[in-house]
Amino acid sequence: MKDELLEIGKKAKEEIEKISNLEGLNNLRVKYLGKRGEITSILRGISNVEPQKRPEIGAIANQIRAEIEELIEKKTKALKEEEKNKRMLEETIDVTLPGKRCAFGNKHPLTKILEEIQSIFLGLGFSVAEGPEVETDYYNFEALNLPKDHPARDMQDTFFINSEVLLRTHTSPVQVRVMEKAYPELPVKIICPGKVYRRDDDATHSPMFTQVEGLAVDKRITFSDLKGTLSKFVQIMFGEKTKVRFRPSFFPFTEPSAEVDISCVICAGKGCRVCGNTGWLEILGAGMVHPKVLEMSGYNPEEAAGFAFGMGVERIAMLKYGIDDLRLFYDNDLRFLKQF
Ligand code: DAH
Repeated sequence: MKDELLEIGKKAKEEIEKISNLEGLNNLRVKYLGKRGEITSILRGISNVEPQKRPEIGAIANQIRAEIEELIEKKTKALKEEEKNKRMLEETIDVTLPGKRCAFGNKHPLTKILEEIQSIFLGLGFSVAEGPEVETDYYNFEALNLPKDHPARDMQDTFFINSEVLLRTHTSPVQVRVMEKAYPELPVKIICPGKVYRRDDDATHSPMFTQVEGLAVDKRITFSDLKGTLSKFVQIMFGEKTKVRFRPSFFPFTEPSAEVDISCVICAGKGCRVCGNTGWLEILGAGMVHPKVLEMSGYNPEEAAGFAFGMGVERIAMLKYGIDDLRLFYDNDLRFLKQF
């Protein structure tokens, strides 16, 4: 039995020596040291050995077991080390490769233009006001001197929610809301940026678009204040050389009313496709606040006067960036949006 054990020990050592992978090594562990392993099987026959010799056999068995255990332990470490080194060689990192860039977003072109408009007017002493996008017929039309059945209502195709509530068709109702709240304080100088809605949809009209409203009311506001303010705005927005032209127009909430053009930003006024060979581009509507609007908002038109204007932000952005289709702003195509 002693010889058998020594033989097993020898065999095990040879096999462990030869093995070159962890899985095979584990199989050897089971083969020699497991519950049904070779050493255990031999020890099962120990009852046939003379009692005096049993301790010696036991000791030899333990020793061989310990030796095998140690060998396996060492071999495991060696194989693991080998595997690690191999992997490190295979997986070497090329530090000269460019890193993975983190993609940064950028502001939407409309947001950028809106911020630019706001910062110009903040610099001119205006503050920013807001109003609801779901508006009442009263604020959207009536308080702006557009009574029911007024033909000028037809200029603004409207999304009605019911006969008294609608999606605002312009930011002008905020004029009234602001004045009602401010009365009797003077001056009132605000701009109001926001979304507006009209039943319109083509390359230059969208059912939802963005406007910026402006309102300045004080004791002695005149048309020249309006002209000066808008000229300054245009020069900062489109460049010093840009010319401004006021054309007579009609809005029920202003009197007199004007449409404001700038010299074409593409051809500098010479005439091109964009300006329809006129040399001018229309950018906003404006005028002196109608006495009736002042009155309905609480102010006495004998004691206060004001100017107002309203511009389309998409239009300004299209002119500033040379974009010919308004729908591009809403398509969320990154190839377009990343350019700004
Ligand atoms: N609310 C007008 C529109 O959407 C634009 C406008 C014109 C606003 C004249 C004004 C103004 O404040 O004075 O067509």
